[in-house]
Amino acid sequence: MNGGGRPRWKNKKASGRSIFISSLLILFLVFFIFYKEISTFILPLSTQSLSSEFSQCEVKTVEKFLWYAPHSGFSNQLSEFKTAILMAAILNRTLIVPPVLDHHAVALGSCPKFRVLEPKQLRFEVWDHAIDLLKEGRYVSMAEIIDLSSISTVVQTIDFRHFVSLWCGVSLNSLCSYDPNIQIPLLNNLRKCGSFVSGFRGNVGKCLYALDVDCRTTVWTYQENDSDGGLDSFQPNEQLKTKKKMSYVRHRRDVYKNLGPSSEAHLSTVLAFGSLFSAPYRGSQLYVDIKESPKDHQMQTLLRKIEFMPFVPDIINAGKEFAQKNIGAPFLCAQLRLLDGQFKNHWKTTFSVLKQKVEALQQKGSHPINLFVMTDLPRSNWSGCYLGDLASNVKSFKLHVLSEREEVVKRTAAKVTAAFDGIKRTHCSRQSLDVLLFVEETICSCASLGFVGTAGSTIAENIELMRKNKVCLRDDEIEV
Ligand SMILES: *[C@@H]1O[C@H](CO)[C@@H](O)[C@H](O)[C@H]1NC(C)=O
Ligand SMILES: *[C@@H]1O[C@H](CO)[C@@H](O)[C@H](O)[C@H]1NC(C)=O
Ligand SMILES: *[C@@H]1O[C@H](CO)[C@@H](O)[C@H](O)[C@H]1NC(C)=O
Repeated sequence: MNGGGRPRWKNKKASGRSIFISSLLILFLVFFIFYKEISTFILPLSTQSLSSEFSQCEVKTVEKFLWYAPHSGFSNQLSEFKTAILMAAILNRTLIVPPVLDHHAVALGSCPKFRVLEPKQLRFEVWDHAIDLLKEGRYVSMAEIIDLSSISTVVQTIDFRHFVSLWCGVSLNSLCSYDPNIQIPLLNNLRKCGSFVSGFRGNVGKCLYALDVDCRTTVWTYQENDSDGGLDSFQPNEQLKTKKKMSYVRHRRDVYKNLGPSSEAHLSTVLAFGSLFSAPYRGSQLYVDIKESPKDHQMQTLLRKIEFMPFVPDIINAGKEFAQKNIGAPFLCAQLRLLDGQFKNHWKTTFSVLKQKVEALQQKGSHPINLFVMTDLPRSNWSGCYLGDLASNVKSFKLHVLSEREEVVKRTAAKVTAAFDGIKRTHCSRQSLDVLLFVEETICSCASLGFVGTAGSTIAENIELMRKNKVCLRDDEIEV
């Protein structure tokens, strides 16, 4: 009996379990079928609890903000910043001005290879890095380096630190406190707030709209004929599709139509993009393709304004001062990028262009030739390459370099920091700002004998742009 009872008992249990499982399944099914309805029931509740958790959702402001995630090197960050200005102008949102991130502290990946960090991940890395910069006293706002006065009438801006205080309802004053009882809860709070605004909890009511599209699926356009929703000309190839086991389709989408007044995104206080990096690739733009529109004069003006955005006056003046006082004669500038990434393999080309230019100047016969050199190759490594030859030939050449130790660099760093801190109290004592690269670029824009840059270097591009816009124009330095 006992033996026979067991299976019965077992059976009963089994059938009881299967009834339980099927009802669970039905429940799930019902849940999925009515997911939309159910979620509208549940979501307002969770939104409410989030709202009370973060003061930002209660910020009663008509002001709407635009956030994005800059990354990679400075030139990249600057080009993203310009795109962000455009987006903010189109969408009439206050642009959150980010800090200058450490060189390649945050990386996107590769758009052409469809291998990029998810927007929310990227945003959170940027947030984290920005908080680190603050904590370490190394925070430098983009607005400390780039002169925003030309766009201030078109786009409202807010400093990232100010936004963080407002949005997370915290005071950053204690960030550098030595008391862990003060600092640790603050950091935890900031982390939570960062994860929230990065979109890890999804879009939250009228509070946050965190875009999750990126260059794999989207090319942003503006006022293009009938392009909204259409396919972009650049699509992943078959090989990539099979390799990734994923098919991305890239659509062109109009920024204003999809994120402007008639969209859901428009309602949100904060609109968050991921990367805003774009570059031409195979006849298309990788992520943002906003061109001059003959219909929109305001846009035309803005596009021209952001094409060239100069450094702040203190930096420009420092470059001019060095050119006048330290060099004090017409000079040639050589920008030689020799160590970083792809440039390691192009020494020969880089030097041969410089050599040609130098020889052409020698033919003209003015001696010695003044040459300003900006390079990432340490001076102790110059011997053995063309720079060594130039440096040792003191009869024909007078070489100039700028270093952090130079008085004008130190003074400028202090001045720029003070000018900014005077307006916006910083919360941790700040290390001296690194302005060397920017002053060097300005000096090169003053080089009246010409400029030789490294092909493919964004630094060289920026110098060319400064020269084109005659940043250094003075009577005694007009180009010949
Ligand atoms: C832009 O936004 C501001 C609020 O920040 C608002 O007062 C203004 O009317 C808006 N302009 C347009 C053209 O929508
Ligand atoms: C857009 O359409 C207008 C006329 O409808 C035309 O003049 C213009 O060339 C078109 N632009 C583009 C980029 O196709
Ligand atoms: C620069 O010189 C140091 C030794 O002085 C050497 O160790 C290093 O490899 C050199 N770097 C390059 C890029 O030549």
